[in-house]
Amino acid sequence: MNTTVQPIGIFDSGAGGLSVLKELVKLLPKESFIYFADSANCPYGQKNQSEIIKLSNAIVQFLIGNNVKLIVVACNTATAAAIDFLRERYSIPFIGMEPAIKPASLNTKTKSIGVLATAGTFKGRLYAETSKKYASNIKICYKVGEGLVELVENGHPDSPEAVKLLHKYVDPMLACKIDHLVLGCTHYPFLINAIKQIAPPNLTIIDPAPAVAKQTKKILEERGLINKNIPASINFYSSGKTDVIKNIINLFEVVPNGIPMKFADNITL
Ligand code: DGL
Repeated sequence: MNTTVQPIGIFDSGAGGLSVLKELVKLLPKESFIYFADSANCPYGQKNQSEIIKLSNAIVQFLIGNNVKLIVVACNTATAAAIDFLRERYSIPFIGMEPAIKPASLNTKTKSIGVLATAGTFKGRLYAETSKKYASNIKICYKVGEGLVELVENGHPDSPEAVKLLHKYVDPMLACKIDHLVLGCTHYPFLINAIKQIAPPNLTIIDPAPAVAKQTKKILEERGLINKNIPASINFYSSGKTDVIKNIINLFEVVPNGIPMKFADNITL
């Protein structure tokens, strides 16, 4: 039986899920979290589905072994490849990521939107379904953001190199007259300063993390699982080194002061 005081599990191929954790901590300041970064296997974007299912399943077993009450799959690529498998196999609630095609399609004036994500995300059922459902009469200009995850993981999200690579993906979208850009990978919000350097001021950039945090809160409330009793803490685990995570946490103020954090490297699953 799940109880209120158990932590929330959250995972990503690496540091990208921290963009989701930041919103979760803002909305649910009393909850404790266990964050797993699969840094040894990052990036997931070009891996095949069975490989991502295997990796995600091992992480989920680790998180369940650490007594979590709910798991946020803070990775679009892992959600696309593995969430159906995970929901079928485990009774614990899962919250996944999905490209924010709906708000972009509902609000576009130019009837043209951009989606930037990994190859794995574009291959998934969720992308096909949401674009069919909400964007059948909208032009979607989509690009696989090859190399962008690596820039974030290497600690260069604001570098001239990042701006140069983003030009390659965003310029053709702007030529398609997009007025909304959907960030379909949890690493990409950390490129926001670089994106803003090349995007016109009227381009709306959509990060789905706040919506995912809201959905997490809703599910916890529905199941009576909101924590009210013990102070929050966050434990970070990585299958590689947690240095990348520490760097992003500091650069983007992911965790407010006062929440105790612990870090553990080289976890084998
Ligand atoms: N943060 C992951 C996502 O949202 C990155 C995927 C990757 O590792 O390539 O898709």
